[in-house]
Amino acid sequence: MTHVIKGQTLSFGTSHLHVKHEQKGAIVVADDGTILWSGPQPLLPHGFRQLPCDDFGSQIVMPGFVDAHIHFPQYRMLAAPGKDLLDWLTRFTFPEESRYADPAFAAAAADVFLSRLYAHGTTSALAFCSVHKTCADALFSAAAARNMALITGKTMMDRNAIPAVQDDPETGARESTELYSAWHGKGRLRYAVTPRFAVTSTEAQLKISGELLASLDGALMQTHLSESPGEIAFVKQLFPDAKDYTDVYDRFGLLSNRSLFAHGIHLSERECARLSESGSGVVHCPTSNTFLGSGLMPMSHLRKISRPVAVGIATDVGGGTNYSMLATLGEAYKVQMLAGYKPTAAELFHMATQGNAERLHISHETGSIDTGKFADLVVLDPNATPVLASRQELSNSLEDVLFSLMILGDDRAIRATYVAGRKMHERLSPPA
Ligand code: GUN
Ligand code: ZN
Repeated sequence: MTHVIKGQTLSFGTSHLHVKHEQKGAIVVADDGTILWSGPQPLLPHGFRQLPCDDFGSQIVMPGFVDAHIHFPQYRMLAAPGKDLLDWLTRFTFPEESRYADPAFAAAAADVFLSRLYAHGTTSALAFCSVHKTCADALFSAAAARNMALITGKTMMDRNAIPAVQDDPETGARESTELYSAWHGKGRLRYAVTPRFAVTSTEAQLKISGELLASLDGALMQTHLSESPGEIAFVKQLFPDAKDYTDVYDRFGLLSNRSLFAHGIHLSERECARLSESGSGVVHCPTSNTFLGSGLMPMSHLRKISRPVAVGIATDVGGGTNYSMLATLGEAYKVQMLAGYKPTAAELFHMATQGNAERLHISHETGSIDTGKFADLVVLDPNATPVLASRQELSNSLEDVLFSLMILGDDRAIRATYVAGRKMHERLSPPA
């Protein structure tokens, strides 16, 4: 049914400098979950004034968060203490991901995973699945039932892992194509060609991945790049002829404006220039980078004005230590401070909404509060905890409130989450 959501509305345009902010805003949501109208409450057209309404008072109603890199089959393995990335993958990650060959296990996990995203205010994601087709089918199916804009793909990996999580180039390509045919463009779903990374794919598999990216119309490509020193050294050993890590993917046609590379911490000038030229995106995953000791991703280096690389932001659960994009923005702030750059809260909130939606090619339907887009919304309570509440006594600007939310907030600050206009999560009990 058509309904209205009221609160302090906040949305960004093409940059964090384009802010739409109403202390008393209203959003009219149509039957099909799209936004019919938004603006200041006094201007709400008369025809909409008698509609059912969720009024959040002065709480912040903003676009739901878009998580640009998360691993569905790692949903319960946060806080697994590896020595570094490769040790963490071998000891904890591959055995856990092997469970997803079982369709019943994967289906139950998908329900928990999506509920958990909503509880943390995330309404869209670009997600990795395991190598098993069953895993991607389960996640697509669960997201379709919730009318969610979700992009995922079956991981392809044909070496340097336990047999239970390996495929081969032909099987990987066939199953990816089958999944694309079954799900891409169905409702709000999209397919992403997903070679895990150069360590676990042979040349034959990377070549096929490039061919899939070129042939599957509208599909994205996701992988990992330049995350940890040990990984980079291993890639050099596996591809001795490549100019650098980025060149390994470039040789197989994997750089494009539909390509998203997680991490990108240790990139050279040449690599940044190629990523920029090809329109590829790099996704910053700060809680994962600090947890695995991978390094400090230098955002300002990547964005250098002469050859800017488009940067997104993500949790990278379960290498990441929190599902919350608020906590992720807070960690990004700290990582960037250590890397010599001081981002504003508005800049980071823009990245987590409209910015990520643009990176993922879903900004026509989500990422901001605009007529015609889906009502994918999160309601933030700036006073959610006693610590936040007392901090707000000192806040005297929107930037201040957003800053305190990203440094001190997490799922407790998520008052409600809407996906395509439907309330998928609500925090009812006031915190102690
Ligand atoms: N590189 C290859 N696979 C992974 C993964 O699952 N997590 C992280 N953080 N890095 C990776
Ligand atoms: Zn990852």
